[in-house]
Amino acid sequence: MARPSFVSYPFTLGVASGSPLPSGVVLWTRLAPDPLHGGGVGPDAVTVRWEVAEDEGFALVVQRGSTEAVPAWAHSVHVEVTGLQAGREYFYRFVAGDDMSPTGRTRTAPPATELPQRLQFGLGSCQHFEYGYYSAHRHLLAEGVDLMVFVGDYIYEGSGRPGRSRRHAGGEARTLVQYRNRHAQYKTDPDLQRLHAAVPWLVTWDDHEVDNDYAGTRSESLDPQFERRRAAAYQAYFEHMPLRERARPTPERMVLRSRHDWGRLARFHLLDGRQRRTPQACPRPGRGGSNRIDGRCRELLAPGRTMLGAAQERWLTDGLAAAPERWNFIAQQTLMTRASTIAGGRRRFSSDKWDGYPAARDRLLKAIADNGLRSCVVLSGDEHCAFVSDLKLDFDDERAPPIATELCGTSITTSGRMQSAIDRIVRENPQIVYGDSTRRGYVVFDVSAERCTARFRVIEDVTDRNTGVLTAATFTIAAGRPGVQRL
Ligand SMILES: [Fe+2]
Repeated sequence: MARPSFVSYPFTLGVASGSPLPSGVVLWTRLAPDPLHGGGVGPDAVTVRWEVAEDEGFALVVQRGSTEAVPAWAHSVHVEVTGLQAGREYFYRFVAGDDMSPTGRTRTAPPATELPQRLQFGLGSCQHFEYGYYSAHRHLLAEGVDLMVFVGDYIYEGSGRPGRSRRHAGGEARTLVQYRNRHAQYKTDPDLQRLHAAVPWLVTWDDHEVDNDYAGTRSESLDPQFERRRAAAYQAYFEHMPLRERARPTPERMVLRSRHDWGRLARFHLLDGRQRRTPQACPRPGRGGSNRIDGRCRELLAPGRTMLGAAQERWLTDGLAAAPERWNFIAQQTLMTRASTIAGGRRRFSSDKWDGYPAARDRLLKAIADNGLRSCVVLSGDEHCAFVSDLKLDFDDERAPPIATELCGTSITTSGRMQSAIDRIVRENPQIVYGDSTRRGYVVFDVSAERCTARFRVIEDVTDRNTGVLTAATFTIAAGRPGVQRL
């Protein structure tokens, strides 16, 4: 083992924690003294020591250990700490050579048998680096949430473009080194680092962690080498996220789906709606990816079409059936509610969302109804627009009772669509009660045994590092009584 010596400070990407259990968390860092150029550690493995303490000054260290950071995994470190006490705060840090990381703070989940009084968590998605600053993360830090849930577009793969607030380094990411450098550029942002260092995150991805609108192994451009590109992107994603060992990818696959309990109060189901999905129906000739389609697309209605893949669908249904009495949060990528517009007497919609997978959506909503779940909330991203919608087994029947509610966050930074287009969607889909595309931000959830309240927090100007925050709208759902109300 070489004595590590770095050209400069190696903890440039900060620290993070994730996947809290009652007995432990996963701690993450990556050694990258030269973060935008492959990392800069060199070909040797490096020993990284870690410590977990009850206090910020590390007087009461409860666990310590060491692990190897290896070049094959970009000198990233994923430490699964076990044997901690449930429902409490801990501090952690790493040491490599003579350098010490910033201190992170995390928390374990409450005991499995306990009913906690309250859970507060943040929801974020879509943080295009070029469109502005991470003021949303700075304000999220001040909210004091217990947990952060991120539902995709953590990075964007596209090449650097002039004339924006910030600029991606390099061209479009396609290789492992390019994806690593892109993740590293995002992770160098101090507001993003601070939020990772302050609370544990639950993460899933959407398309831009790999390529716009990809579906399974089909890319938008029908790239014959796409499986290789996808494997590189998945590996870089794992290397930069506080994920457990079970998520470590092989060249063929990565198991990202995960389930997390917060005592008997809440259960989170983190879904992967990209890796196993059937390609979008009726694409444009010679292309993959999203298209505007309507009921004339026969392929759309095929019962075998899937968003999650058969194994993940079963896993989700089993997990929902096992704990129907608590809050079930289904955290996933794309909009689940019907969001069509009517043209020429036909409903038209995007093929990339759940609207493009109607049989799969029916199966999932039926599983929620059949298993007696009455406190089920779907969390979504991708839209760059805040949407609040009740979910129904039959969206055409205005009198059909809601069986769950969907809350789709706006984006941390990425620009939204024209508000006039959103207004039309809200008008033509009565189950959607709110749609705001004009502002960037996040959602803060306050969950108790009685209700779940969601505040849509928006920043005033994404291009201003010091911008303020305000509440755009607040919604609440009573436990056991499906249907959302605006406060
Ligand atoms: Fe996005």
